[in-house]
Amino acid sequence: MNIITSADQARCTLNELKTKGYTIGFVPTLGGLHKGHQLLMQRSCEENDITVISIFLNPLQFRKQQFLAYPSDFNQDQRIATESKVDIIFHPSVAEMYPHNDFFFGKTDDLTHRDPEKFIINKGIMKVSSNLVNRLDGKMHPWVFDGAATIVHKFLGLLQPNRAYFGEKDFQQLAILTKMARIYFPHITIVGIPTLRDTDGLAFSSRNVLLSNQQRQSALSVCHALKQAKRKILAGETTSKNILNLILKAISPEITIDYIEIITQNTLAPVIHIHEDIVLYVAFFINSIRLTETLIVNR
Ligand code: PAF
Repeated sequence: MNIITSADQARCTLNELKTKGYTIGFVPTLGGLHKGHQLLMQRSCEENDITVISIFLNPLQFRKQQFLAYPSDFNQDQRIATESKVDIIFHPSVAEMYPHNDFFFGKTDDLTHRDPEKFIINKGIMKVSSNLVNRLDGKMHPWVFDGAATIVHKFLGLLQPNRAYFGEKDFQQLAILTKMARIYFPHITIVGIPTLRDTDGLAFSSRNVLLSNQQRQSALSVCHALKQAKRKILAGETTSKNILNLILKAISPEITIDYIEIITQNTLAPVIHIHEDIVLYVAFFINSIRLTETLIVNR
């Protein structure tokens, strides 16, 4: 496995491989690799000749405190990537990816114009369209999605893969990056991979290591509540309010709910009556640990 830290070298190496006729699959990560990432890497290896992953803790997506607390260990990530048969790790420094910027950490949304439909690049930062970003987690911190779109836009431009893989767990991010890629890189296929769950049903997340056993059980109550809601919808319930009440009742009292939403898969807009493919989305806290649960319901 090849570890590349220079953007120029990454561009040249992948360009050479593509010229030789190899297909490239790309899995961007923040590091802290877990089984969810392994599934993305596995899928990329199955569908492409070469799999490249990026390990880059993108400061634009974080506040300084969160950035410093992010659980990552490059040696372990390297071991997991090797086991997953990854060919190349792209592991650039912050200065390599943001050579012209003097800011590092995510800042509160500035007043730069955000278009309802278009993605706009302003002073090196991608401003995601307001109709996709001013929803769900984006209402609270649109700059996180601007940060993710900015770095993924840089990576796709640099590496020019055939396919790029993202988890469906971060449904809003997947919707935003799919739209961004459609605009700027229509030749690159964005592949969404269903959420991988542990044997007890909890979705894999880098933050799960922070949970005690008791807290893990509480987090699982959210997952069970969403499954119950899905069964109810598939059995014919169409009123969002009834589904939201059912979810609220089934969730452990140890959980502090940030928000619960029922949204359409295409536009991320909330629905009152469920007559199409939707996503059940819960953001919640257990003490100070923030987690999300997502369940896709195809009708
Ligand atoms: O989902 C993530 O891990 C990150 O947002 C991504 C896509 C790697 C961009 O930094």
